[in-house]
Amino acid sequence: MLRVAVLASGRGSNFAALLRAAEHADAGFGVVGLYSDRATAAALELAARSGLDHASLDPRAHADRVAFDHAFFARVRQIQPDLIVCAGYMRIISATALANLTVPMLNIHPSLLPRHRGLDTHARAIAAGDVEHGASVHVVTPELDAGPVLAQARVPIDTDDTPDSLAARVLEQEHRLLPACVGAIARGRLVLDGKTFRFDGVRLDQPLRLGADGQLHAGASA
Ligand code: GRF
Repeated sequence: MLRVAVLASGRGSNFAALLRAAEHADAGFGVVGLYSDRATAAALELAARSGLDHASLDPRAHADRVAFDHAFFARVRQIQPDLIVCAGYMRIISATALANLTVPMLNIHPSLLPRHRGLDTHARAIAAGDVEHGASVHVVTPELDAGPVLAQARVPIDTDDTPDSLAARVLEQEHRLLPACVGAIARGRLVLDGKTFRFDGVRLDQPLRLGADGQLHAGASA
């Protein structure tokens, strides 16, 4: 079983989606802990109710980003994860901490990267006149939201969409995309090998797409 540690700063709906997916007998992964930089994160309550290892560390109690990350990831390492997933973890992670990681770390971002890195992606996609938006799962690298993209879910933008209505539809897809990616890694279908990825043995040259069937597909055929 692939041991997955989740980092979250807030509501934790993607964390909840991973927990639900992990309950399936054939999931191949288990969520082993939840770690936060905010003591008030709802995700922590869910972790506690679920009997999972959890902790929050206060960034203000540390001298700087590197010192915080050192303490934070030392705590995460205690649970011995095979994979770390940022699911609404709103802190930039220092390059030092990333260089010291011995397991892959993924992030889910609410846009079709490389479009709309950073915050307020839904409003920015509407303002830009985009006809579609979506979510991406990518490998975390020192540059914010710029790591290699593993998979995406696409969502059409309606003419009457508001940032909130669009965000709600994207979030639904996030809840399918993230467990699909983690499950594909757990089952050995998706292999991260340094900077290259393989899906069913074939090297990926573009992100996988989440199909209407809830499965990941290579290429444009989904
Ligand atoms: C999600 O939209 C995620 O893509 C972004 O932050 C939000 C977190 O939502 N990085 P939740 O805490 O998982 O409900």
